[in-house]
Amino acid sequence: MNPSILFVCLGNICRSPLAEAALRQECMDSTLNIIVDSAGTGDWHAGQPPDERAQAVAAQNGVDIGHLRARQVKASDFRDFDHIIALDNQNLRDLKALRPAMAVSQLSLLFDHVAGRAGEDVADPYYGAARDFEQTWAEVSEAARNIRKWLEAG
Ligand code: 4NP
Repeated sequence: MNPSILFVCLGNICRSPLAEAALRQECMDSTLNIIVDSAGTGDWHAGQPPDERAQAVAAQNGVDIGHLRARQVKASDFRDFDHIIALDNQNLRDLKALRPAMAVSQLSLLFDHVAGRAGEDVADPYYGAARDFEQTWAEVSEAARNIRKWLEAG
């Protein structure tokens, strides 16, 4: 089974690359052979590596994300990924608006995968400090553990 998952935030330099890294790390010792990627609804940072503060918190947690490059969501993503997981409600609304008729991807919100937090946003740490990025890492890591179990359950 090779489930494919795309995480989507606004800029694709803070939250969604961290979610991508957390799920990849979480599934390293899994029988699942996941395909995981991330993208942004905006294109301002396309081609850029993740924010240095996101790179730092990932490195502190054992994952190198320096090679990742931001990109914008595209129509073919809705055909190529089994699951597209939005980091906040605005991203989810934007994805629903972009969703083409031929879409196969299931859309969900990241916090819908964490008991007791359904419907919540992963706060944007872009205008925050290092501790905000640590909180983002904690949130996406908790979700990644649950997403792994959900995917393994098929
Ligand atoms: P992200 O954070 O959506 O978690 O990657 C942001 C990064 C950049 C901007 C906004 C949010 N920006 O406005 O440039």
